[in-house]
Amino acid sequence: MTVESGKIDVKAVLVDRAERIDAVLADILASGAPIPKSLAEAISYTLIAPGKRIRPAVTLCVCQMLSGEICADAETAAAAIEMVHTYSLIHDDLPAMDDDDFRRGRASCHKAFDEATAILAGDSLLTLAFEIMAERISLPGKAVELIKILAAAAGPSGMIAGQVADIEAEKSRGNEDALKYIHINKTARMFQAATLCGAVAAGASEGDKKLLADFGLNLGLCFQIADDILDVSASTAELGKTAGKDAAAGKLTYPSLFGLAESKKIAAGIAEKAMAVIEPFGEKANVLIALTENLINRTR
Ligand code: IPE
Ligand code: IPE
Ligand code: MG
Ligand code: MG
Ligand code: MG
Repeated sequence: MTVESGKIDVKAVLVDRAERIDAVLADILASGAPIPKSLAEAISYTLIAPGKRIRPAVTLCVCQMLSGEICADAETAAAAIEMVHTYSLIHDDLPAMDDDDFRRGRASCHKAFDEATAILAGDSLLTLAFEIMAERISLPGKAVELIKILAAAAGPSGMIAGQVADIEAEKSRGNEDALKYIHINKTARMFQAATLCGAVAAGASEGDKKLLADFGLNLGLCFQIADDILDVSASTAELGKTAGKDAAAGKLTYPSLFGLAESKKIAAGIAEKAMAVIEPFGEKANVLIALTENLINRTR
């Protein structure tokens, strides 16, 4: 850890970013075309639930690092990313996928409502995310660039590809390459979209975008390894989602392949790699460095 990043109150930064995102999400839900009541309830139920808001926080922090401020375009893109992420959680919990009854400290969407409503709430969040970007981003060129980044990261050669491989791997022995493919696609690609959207909103150079794309992918990979570790080592109450479910489902995870101690070492090594990538930004990168350290040592 650098001396400077140690001085940053990263928890306070995360609280501030989460509050900003929550305000934008509330505004999105309150405006726009009317939504059937039961569907609107299911959408807000999981979206407004206490998620950590890490991906949108990353977008806002990248924008602030590059431009010195958090612009409205960064807030819109961050909200869109959180909406796509929340859709992915609702669908991830469905009986046909991970079959999880508990999410963000409450019953999963399909448990609180029903499966059809949960599927449709997920569909709604995915669609709305792109509608708000098309509507709210200040310049058409920027809107197209942001939409393209998020669509590519979340789509069938990104997050969805990772989810397919994650489910298929339940039936196979698996190896390191397959595991890395799953984690990069199901999780790290969305983190990469988060850093890239912050960079585009700030009007970053191509060189800075490249560095931040590399940082985002490594950050996302160590975030998912930490998720696998917490599934083994944390409690359901701490996580707000069912602990111990990966082993029960026969998931291919870092702890299943390497054991707990080695997984922690691998995650720490990838976090170091992520932090080294943003060294060229100097002291301005201290918030992102502190955030990386926080995510690797998280307990929820
Ligand atoms: C859970 O993501 C799914 C993964 C990709 C690991 P988070 O741990 O960010 O979940 P929330 O948004 O805080 O609920
Ligand atoms: C979920 O990974 C990844 C996505 C939702 C895209 P996990 O299945 O490990 O996430 P949790 O543990 O249920 O939150
Ligand atoms: Mg899953
Ligand atoms: Mg799951
Ligand atoms: Mg998990």
